[in-house]
Amino acid sequence: MEDKIKILNDKIAQAHLGGGKKRIEKQHAKKKLTARERVEYLMDEGSFEEMGMLVTHRTTDFGMEKEQYYGDGVITGYGTINGRLVYVFAQDFTVFGGALSETHAEKICKVMDMAVRNGAPMIGLNDSGGARIQEGVRSLGGYADIFYRNVQSSGVIPQISAIMGPCAGGAVYSPAMTDFTMMVENTSYMFVTGPNVVKTVTNETVTSEELGGASTHATKSGVAHTTSANDVACLEDIKTLLSYLPQNNKETAPKLGFEFKDEIRESLSNIIPDSANKPYDMHEVISGIIDEDSFYEIHKDFAENIIVGFSRIGGRSVGIVANQPMYLAGVLDVNSSTKAARFTRFCDAFNIPLLVLVDVPGFLPGTNQEWNGIITHGAKLLYALSEATVPRVTVITRKAYGGAYDVMNSKHIGADMNFAWPTAEIAVMGAKGASEIIFKREISEAEDSEAKLLEKEAEYADKFANPYRAAQRGFVDEVILPKDTRKKLIKAFSMLEHKAVVRPDRKHGNIPL
Ligand code: COA
Repeated sequence: MEDKIKILNDKIAQAHLGGGKKRIEKQHAKKKLTARERVEYLMDEGSFEEMGMLVTHRTTDFGMEKEQYYGDGVITGYGTINGRLVYVFAQDFTVFGGALSETHAEKICKVMDMAVRNGAPMIGLNDSGGARIQEGVRSLGGYADIFYRNVQSSGVIPQISAIMGPCAGGAVYSPAMTDFTMMVENTSYMFVTGPNVVKTVTNETVTSEELGGASTHATKSGVAHTTSANDVACLEDIKTLLSYLPQNNKETAPKLGFEFKDEIRESLSNIIPDSANKPYDMHEVISGIIDEDSFYEIHKDFAENIIVGFSRIGGRSVGIVANQPMYLAGVLDVNSSTKAARFTRFCDAFNIPLLVLVDVPGFLPGTNQEWNGIITHGAKLLYALSEATVPRVTVITRKAYGGAYDVMNSKHIGADMNFAWPTAEIAVMGAKGASEIIFKREISEAEDSEAKLLEKEAEYADKFANPYRAAQRGFVDEVILPKDTRKKLIKAFSMLEHKAVVRPDRKHGNIPL
């Protein structure tokens, strides 16, 4: 018996060494943890159970049969994070650069299938040189097997991808189809084709970091939802994100204990500036509404004219979509519409109620926007909010102009409770622009046309630059004092807790992509 136990223990020890001490040192020298260290850090202590530790590849080309490593470059299994079940795979860069072989893919697919069958989140820690070059199409088939499962699991269980090293070529499409892509700064990059191919095809000279590093994807492309300073921070971010999410689409997110007190927040009374054209930071409004320090922002550095993120209000997990007057006056444009639409759809798929904070002067004008399809992209947000069946509450803090008023969770597209602050201006456009159009003749014929414009502007503003026309029609349920907002929202979300909507049967809608 003892010799048999020794054989097993030797194999386990060998598996734990991955690609060997030298390659582990190389990994550490790059300021990266090994796959095993990452999994250990991510999971509750002692909770990780590994599956497929002794799997090896089956390739015999290029003398590969002589180079075998237990686990074949990926660690897979299950465990708990804050006591809740999750499934995980972590690619081991010390084994063939974490490259994906047929068996490596089979291991990932096995845990993906288990995650969806058992209704628990799937977390992928990516660190890989891409397709295992020695295996050719078998490796490509492995990717496709993963992609297919990503899509089948979409909207059923949360799927989170951390990019903690290279992720290139076909490898990028699994993270892209998961719900969140979280990148580590300076040590990770993602691109469809690397700098060498870029140079050959387009003659551009670009580094890996510029082409597809964390900051590029967080600011320019929006591919990265979050970035973290290092591996440990990224793993912490995964834990934080999960704390706002349910295990699957049949459950609701965990609710924290909450005791209702007066919930008045005087700080909210002084945020809106006197002038309608002055910016203010919508983060201040968010902070005044939510449970203390509970905001976890997604896509923080991308399309900053809209803010999206998770928070808690009265202990409940709530997704927030908010115009940001500090950037581009909070207009809707191609990127902000897409960003908000994707976040909205995630929340709706996973039963997370939505709070929409509105201060929007309209859509961004210009050829750049029109030629890049603002019509289609703006429609995404309109579509996403219109189809969302989770509890939906709106607060208009200031401007709600034109078509953007409709888009930003208006009553007409199915919002449940619509509040407005006394500073709200719900109109087709701003008073100046409106007066210039409808009083054009009067203004041009006036002796002092500037004075006439000001007079007409004041007349228009008096009539429409307020929330009361909308309130008269019931498009706004209540005009509330800013300081009461938190209280009103806690009550509204509580009232909407058991909201149920039955939609007509259909295969799926056709969101404008
Ligand atoms: N298939 C098989 N083995 C691979 C591999 C792949 N796609 N990518 C890397 N490896 C192996 C390397 O041969 C090396 O093996 P070794 O430890 O026995 O020397 C090990 O992984 C580490 O790679 P290395 O190139 O030394 O690491 P690096 O940090 O300098 O560079 C990459 C990392 C990913 C940039 C580089 O390995 C690379 O360009 N790989 C190929 C990427 C690619 O074109 N993939 C296929 C298309 S999807």
